[in-house]
Amino acid sequence: MNSSSSRHGVYGTPPLALATVPADARIFGPFLPGSEDLAELQDGALSTLVVLAPAGVLERRYALAQALRVLEPGGQLTVMALKDKGGSRLRKELEAFGCVVIETSKAHHRICGVTRPAQVEGVSAAIAAGDPRRSETLNLYTQPGIFSWDRPDPGSALLMEHLPALSGRGADLGAGLGVLALAVLASPKVTSLTLIDLDYRAVRAAQRNVADGRAEILWADVRTTELTNLDFVVMNPPFHDGGAEDRSLGQTFIRKAAEALRKGGTCWLVANRHLPYEAVMAPLFAKVTLQAETKAFKVYEARK
Ligand SMILES: C[S@@+](CC[C@H](N)C(=O)[O-])C[C@H]1O[C@@H](n2cnc3c(N)ncnc32)[C@H](O)[C@@H]1O
Repeated sequence: MNSSSSRHGVYGTPPLALATVPADARIFGPFLPGSEDLAELQDGALSTLVVLAPAGVLERRYALAQALRVLEPGGQLTVMALKDKGGSRLRKELEAFGCVVIETSKAHHRICGVTRPAQVEGVSAAIAAGDPRRSETLNLYTQPGIFSWDRPDPGSALLMEHLPALSGRGADLGAGLGVLALAVLASPKVTSLTLIDLDYRAVRAAQRNVADGRAEILWADVRTTELTNLDFVVMNPPFHDGGAEDRSLGQTFIRKAAEALRKGGTCWLVANRHLPYEAVMAPLFAKVTLQAETKAFKVYEARK
């Protein structure tokens, strides 16, 4: 991650109409490749911080606690979130850390302004609750906020049940913790596998989980990557962007998979059965085969 000496910061992508972000602000947040990790800053390193708080409770309290830790006493914290994505809980959560909160409401967001008090409470506990850790259930490194961070995903499990032993060069688009990648790399005929994820926490966990010389792990946006001539792609594509269902995201993943494959290469994917992916796959692939279905999911093999 990058670093600079500015004492101003912005976490995530708060709507700029709702907050003033200094031009030299350092950029933080797991979904912005190249940005910094708040967790790596020293206590009191910043004077101002504007935060678009995450929706998940543990990851939001973690981000708020890190924000209070890295602000100097007297520093200014502005936190916002959509009302139904954690915004309505921000005030109480900040008060529980010992802050006096000035709350306003605009454009469906709750916006909380705080002057960082000299003493804060419960920050270490919230950081411990949201920190990276090893999950005994998954037997993997993980962190709250990552997709399916504390339980196996049934869609990925179904895909793995039906995945043949693959061979050659491949990619795992939206690789998360590396669950599918580990299944793929069990085949000795796989020569290389590129794992891509937009979530830095997932990338960091996958680096520990997928310790295999054939794997390359990239913190990047699949929508802007340019892989070519691959023998296979595997994926459980995302269908949420910023908490809202976004079908076009999964559809773009499918287009990117088709672009990345050589003629005759295959894409194995699992999707929630209500998602309209068949119509996107049909013109991009020579043959699309439904390999498995349950009440919730469908597994496809799409051959280019
Ligand atoms: C449904 S999860 C699948 C994760 C993993 N493959 C598994 O099976 O457990 C989709 C993953 O895509 C990632 N993602 C979302 N948007 C992305 C993007 N634009 N570029 C790369 N990864 C993205 C998410 O962070 C998430 O880890």
